[in-house]
Amino acid sequence: MALYSEKVMDHFRNPRNVGSIENADGVGEVGNAKCGDIMKIYLKIDEDVVSDVKFETFGCGSAIASSSMATELIKGKPVGEALALTNKAVAEALDGLPAHKLHCSVLAEEAIRAAVKDYYDKNGVAYDAEQFSSPCAACHA
Ligand code: FES
Repeated sequence: MALYSEKVMDHFRNPRNVGSIENADGVGEVGNAKCGDIMKIYLKIDEDVVSDVKFETFGCGSAIASSSMATELIKGKPVGEALALTNKAVAEALDGLPAHKLHCSVLAEEAIRAAVKDYYDKNGVAYDAEQFSSPCAACHA
């Protein structure tokens, strides 16, 4: 069996939603201290819906595929759904990632969460800080 699924290869070779958004409503940037990869997510939000999303990822192929898939999964969805997106859902949508590459999908989850938090902070939206306080063990191991 190939190490990477066809979906991973497709999103790596033809990443969706690459770029940045000028005057984004929320921006989140996270990095993995171990591999040094960095992911940045830009959100445009209209009436509590993610109307546009873009990403810039300086990282491995799995991180690029994860960013691409994650942006596809949250585009057009309510902010609450974007916030609830897990790395597991991203990896599943990619038809799986090798175990040692799962942390790359965690980066996508965290970057989206950071962007939503930025949106909440900029717009005075009340939230439970707990929601943002627990970095994934897999990512920071
Ligand atoms: Fe660093 Fe994939 S190896 S995010």
